[in-house]
Amino acid sequence: MNIYQALARTVAVDRKNRLIRHGNSLKLVGKGRSAFVFRIKSSNKVIKIFFPEFAHIAKEEMAIYRLLQNIPYYPTIYDAGANYIVIDYIEGLTLFECVAKGKIITPLHMKEIDYALELATEQGLNPSDIHLRNIFITKDGDIKIIDVARYRQQKTCVQWQHFKRAYEQLYRKQFFPKKIATSYLNGIAFLYKKGIIPTYRTN
Ligand SMILES: Nc1ncnc2c1ncn2[C@@H]1O[C@H](COP(=O)(O)OP(=O)(O)OP(=O)(O)O)[C@@H](O)[C@H]1O
Ligand SMILES: [Mg+2]
Repeated sequence: MNIYQALARTVAVDRKNRLIRHGNSLKLVGKGRSAFVFRIKSSNKVIKIFFPEFAHIAKEEMAIYRLLQNIPYYPTIYDAGANYIVIDYIEGLTLFECVAKGKIITPLHMKEIDYALELATEQGLNPSDIHLRNIFITKDGDIKIIDVARYRQQKTCVQWQHFKRAYEQLYRKQFFPKKIATSYLNGIAFLYKKGIIPTYRTN
């Protein structure tokens, strides 16, 4: 058994995918709809451990990261197993955290994200699930994109187009608050996903 496999085995979730325990060498840094993400202490890597019903995604996400390894906007992948992948730890803020904390997202950041997604498209991929918690601005001001598991799906993802529109039509305007409370942001995300914000419909 390799070290990452052993670390993955220290993590237990209950039937509702609530975290029950994890080993001392791991520090929880995030949770998504399909996984818990832990920083491996004293390293610059994270291990993303998928919930049991999403374990099969590990293999798919690893295969896609492999296609992106020459592009600096995506983390390096080190290992993958039955229910986990190991990638670079990204020190910075997701775009969601930027808005929640009032860290300015500049037009240059937006251009770079666009470029990073274009490079993935050039690899024959279809960037999908491009939401604010999957894009980071690092502490050095660089862009990193994570959570690439759905990049081989056929369906067109309009989320990034919508965010760009909202960025131009709202965020860049002087009147628009540059810092929005997390609870309010989650409320907007909820309404967006339900498809009930006019001109930002997903379906
Ligand atoms: N490499 C990383 N470095 C730092 N934090 C990370 C890293 N990977 C993930 N995270 C944190 O963990 C969260 C969940 O990770 P991820 O998006 O990979 O999970 P997911 O279950 O696939 O998400 P989703 O709900 O978008 O499908 C991220 O939004 C981010 O806050
Ligand atoms: Mg995610």
